Amino acid sequence: MPNLGRYDDPPSWDEIIKYFRGSELQNYFVKMTEADIKAVIKPQYVDNLPRAIKGPVQKVGDLLKLRIKDKGEEYNEMLIKDLQLYDVLEREISKLSGGELQRFAIAMACVQSADIYMFDEPSSYLDVKQRLKAAHMIRSLLAPTVYVIAVEHDLSVLDYLSDFVCIIYGVPSVYGVVTMPSSVREGINIFLDGHIPSENIRFREDSLQFRLADSLIDNLKIDDGNAQFTYPEMTKTQGDFKLTVEAGDFNDSEILVLMGENGTGKTTLIKLLAGVSKSDKNETEQLSLNVSMKPQKIAPRFPGTVRQLFFKKIRGAFLNPQFQTDVVKPLKIDNIIDNEVQTLSGGELQRVAIILSLGVVAQIYLIDEPSAYLDSEQRVICAKVIRRFVLHNKKTAFVVEHDFIMATYLADRVIVFEGTPAKAATAKTPESLVTGCNRFLKSLNVTFRRDPSSFRPRINKLGSQMDQEQKSSGNYFFLEGTI
Ligand SMILES: Nc1ncnc2c1ncn2[C@@H]1O[C@H](COP(=O)(O)OP(=O)(O)OP(=O)(O)O)[C@@H](O)[C@H]1O
Ligand SMILES: [Mg+2]
Repeated sequence: MPNLGRYDDPPSWDEIIKYFRGSELQNYFVKMTEADIKAVIKPQYVDNLPRAIKGPVQKVGDLLKLRIKDKGEEYNEMLIKDLQLYDVLEREISKLSGGELQRFAIAMACVQSADIYMFDEPSSYLDVKQRLKAAHMIRSLLAPTVYVIAVEHDLSVLDYLSDFVCIIYGVPSVYGVVTMPSSVREGINIFLDGHIPSENIRFREDSLQFRLADSLIDNLKIDDGNAQFTYPEMTKTQGDFKLTVEAGDFNDSEILVLMGENGTGKTTLIKLLAGVSKSDKNETEQLSLNVSMKPQKIAPRFPGTVRQLFFKKIRGAFLNPQFQTDVVKPLKIDNIIDNEVQTLSGGELQRVAIILSLGVVAQIYLIDEPSAYLDSEQRVICAKVIRRFVLHNKKTAFVVEHDFIMATYLADRVIVFEGTPAKAATAKTPESLVTGCNRFLKSLNVTFRRDPSSFRPRINKLGSQMDQEQKSSGNYFFLEGTI
């Protein structure tokens, strides 16, 4: 219930409804007070789902069947087709990739009849194509008496998904203020600017920009053909999914970004490189790389506080002033350092996990989807932290990333995954950022442009003039300075 800033003397529903008169929220709150309404929530944090769903029924298809009552078999079919769950219906939820798990969670919310649907960060772990599909799916729930509310950090998806946005500002972990709803474009601009004109409040000192200048300079490294490390051609079969890995090489002070649709084996390759799973012919045995890994799904069981966790796992790094300045401080852990690990939010947990992985002494850092659950600001900070860490310490990082701002900022080279998701795919040998991005986006049939004022990447509407032009010239993705 909104308190309108009156903590001591909270307003009544009548006052609240009056306050929001004329806005979309008025209708919503009226509905909330009047009728007996049913709300369905797609939770933010899907990583815990496999552990939370207990009982004998564990297969995706069976779980969906249990929920489907009033929307009928036909709707179920459509949902499975649109969210591309067909190939994983027989799979147990503990085996699903991150993106498959997210789509399953969205489906579980959609199959139910409700007056209000809430989607808390529906795009985490989804690839670009799936983000757009999920957006359509969520929009299709709208009906004259149905409300849909979404929380979202990927601004290009937000553009696509919503009619109104409310901005929430404040001091993280201390307080937050919710603004009146505004149009999407206006809302996103206000958010990027850090200034709300109607209330004349500045909630951030500077505006957010997506310039890539420094990464472009770094990217101009000369390839002398003498790679320090190599990995062999490999295959990995798990259930009815098969991954083929082309041989590749890498150097220190280099970041390789893994790009591919959901379920094409990115996490599988990370696990092969980490040595936590074996390739079919056990070629990984000879690799013996010195690695530290941040897994994609984080479901902590640690029974103490963040500080205790750091002391237990990365004492040396945590007490090191350089590590504190370069990694711990920028990731803003101060407010939560004495909180119980079990009570952390998705984004807090993600930052803790990143620190934990960088705090382990290794040559190669395997970081699976660091930006999931982080907000737009934290994503930029996190990308900078990883890049600086790798360059200063002459390490190598393999990073799985779906957010294009992050991916292009981080990547020296990219490894593109091609094939049929959930069935068979190939991890290509590492290639340059521009050719790799183009290859990946071409396979998705998606083009990106840059917003001329904020420089944020925006997805072109399929078939629009920009889309057609970029496709015919082969520029599926514009890097600044290459136009
Ligand atoms: N033990 C298993 N048995 C059967 N199938 C599995 C098993 N583990 C993973 N899979 C399947 O292998 C495929 C590749 O999984 P992986 O986690 O590597 O994908 P990913 O590219 O990381 O996807 P995402 O972007 O969604 O995280 C998925 O379709 C997944 O369902
Ligand atoms: Mg994965």
